[in-house]
Amino acid sequence: MDRFYVTTPIYYVNGPPHLGHTYTTVVADALTRFARLEGMDAYFLTGTDEHGDKIARSAAAAGMGPQEWVDDISGRFRTLWPTMHIEHNDFIRTTEERHERVVRAILQRVYDAGDIYFGEYEGLYCVGCELFVDEDDLVDGKCPVHGVSPELVKEGDYFFRMSRHTDWLRAHLEEHPETIRPERYRNEALALLREPRDLNISRPKSRLSWGIPLPFDEKYVTYVWFDALINYVSALGWPDGEKFRRYWPVAQHITAKDILKPHGIYWPCMLRSAGIPMYRHLNVHGFWRGFDGRKMSKTLGNTVDPVEMRDRYGADPFRYVLLREMPYGVDANIGDSIIAERANTDLANDLGNLASRTFKLVQRSFGDRVPKPAAPAVEDDLLRDQWLAATPQVRDTWHELRMSQGIEAVMERVRATNRYVDAQKPWELAKKGDTTRLGTVLYHGLEALRIASVLLWPAMPERMGRLRAELGLDAEPTLAEAERWDVLQSGAALAPGAALFPRVDVAAARAREQARVAAAAAATAEAVEAAPVVQPAADEFVTIDEFRRIRLRVGTILAAESVPKAKKLLRLSIDLGEGSPRQLIAGVAEHYAPEALVGRQIVVVANLQPATIRGFESQGMLLAADNGDGLAILAPDAKVPPGAEVH
Ligand code: MSP
Repeated sequence: MDRFYVTTPIYYVNGPPHLGHTYTTVVADALTRFARLEGMDAYFLTGTDEHGDKIARSAAAAGMGPQEWVDDISGRFRTLWPTMHIEHNDFIRTTEERHERVVRAILQRVYDAGDIYFGEYEGLYCVGCELFVDEDDLVDGKCPVHGVSPELVKEGDYFFRMSRHTDWLRAHLEEHPETIRPERYRNEALALLREPRDLNISRPKSRLSWGIPLPFDEKYVTYVWFDALINYVSALGWPDGEKFRRYWPVAQHITAKDILKPHGIYWPCMLRSAGIPMYRHLNVHGFWRGFDGRKMSKTLGNTVDPVEMRDRYGADPFRYVLLREMPYGVDANIGDSIIAERANTDLANDLGNLASRTFKLVQRSFGDRVPKPAAPAVEDDLLRDQWLAATPQVRDTWHELRMSQGIEAVMERVRATNRYVDAQKPWELAKKGDTTRLGTVLYHGLEALRIASVLLWPAMPERMGRLRAELGLDAEPTLAEAERWDVLQSGAALAPGAALFPRVDVAAARAREQARVAAAAAATAEAVEAAPVVQPAADEFVTIDEFRRIRLRVGTILAAESVPKAKKLLRLSIDLGEGSPRQLIAGVAEHYAPEALVGRQIVVVANLQPATIRGFESQGMLLAADNGDGLAILAPDAKVPPGAEVH
């Protein structure tokens, strides 16, 4: 029996499941179901990724211990999936003993193969974050989260000699182009291979303890990616588990493009080093954007909550829209209104309508029994041939991850069947009493629905199961059934029920979407307004005389230079029309290059009490506007003599 093994990424438990996680898991479930339709022995693995800094920090932020936290969030993934009609065979958590054991065994193998070495790592380390930080992420040289200057730390770490395997990987991807699909992602992986690097795979326990200790040095824990990728084999019971032998040779991974590098580069090199055969396929999909085509974000109000969509539209219609709207491999838009529109046109108007009108007409004239077809007319044969041609076409699309096209191939035929019914006018045949022709037309309608129920079952298992029950068939179909015609037996009982796909309100969905965007914009505006634009209270007013005590003058910058060991400061020499220049120490060095300031005019508080800053006397202060993340120095609109008064 042919085998099939598919995996999703194991999701980080730093927050509850979102739309992206839901999509990938729906894809894996639908592919597994398609494989089952074909009679394959199919196995589907998902789970959660529970180690590492990110998770330790999320737990700490929630005031919880890491184990308590990961148990809670992992549980939310596990309970969401069945409500989305997702049936995985296994759910792996990286904190499980069965996984930790395999990670340590593989590390030991890679170490014994001479592929792990100890090296020195140097970087800026923030004690608050317990992390190495990027120089570019610092604000004023300080950690933006903790406001402290990071320390330059040199530490020993273990490295995986990935560079030893990259030539092999390049050759493999060239010889087996189907390994990473679609092709653009194979090309991306090949591009990443142009700069082969080794991989830091450890963290000292003193910095991070939430991880799996290295078997050859317990003072270190395993870097989270090296740990996580191994789930794909630990869940199968590597090295000698029956499932490993059975399913690993046909492994297919599903991920989005964000994690191409670990799956396309690290993982193959890890497998090779550990002496494990390469996986068969890495199937990479795109990213969902909001309904407006912009990146989904809370501040834009264009995110989509999978739980809300499931509750509003039903798990199956939601699954259908996800699979139909995103051509696998490219980005696509999604939102309440897009789901509503697609559910209405395809499901309520086309498929739902075909089912309800056919059942109604059968009920009226044949009392819920499958009618008997007579010799077919040309149109009947045409319809039959169209449906019989569907299965090979749909099979190809699903094998090549073109599920959106596979679904559309069925829907085209559903629409063609509705046109056939319109043209045959069975209601007139009923009126005329032509039961022979009427029975033939309705039989064709029922057979069309039967094949649709097979081919759409991987996308909508529950609703298609219902349709099949109404047709008097087993809930779980086989693809072979869709390759045949005349399967329904005349006289067999039908059991039509309530509408399969009730209409939904698209206008209301649009209104909700707009309201969300408006609320998000208002929240952002509020945050901005909450800043300093506040009317002063009466006791905060200054009198005009008080204001005049502050002498504001225009000065011309004669010279500017940086202040040693002070990243933010510049030493300025200013002509205030006083004969000899003044010296100002100004905190503008991060926003202005000294040479760009010479010759410019500025506004200076001329009677500010002098102060010594970093050993230099500052005899005044320049005025600048703060724009949140930068500074803009105030200047007169036209050239004025140095010393001109500002009032
Ligand atoms: N824990 C790692 C994976 C380790 S696998 C050995 C991780 N987790 S994650 O929670 O960030 O999940 C990333 C995956 O979620 C993506 O690869 C994709 O499958 C899914 N998606 C997250 N956001 C998405 C979209 N906006 N659109 C589509 N899928 C996205 O990375």
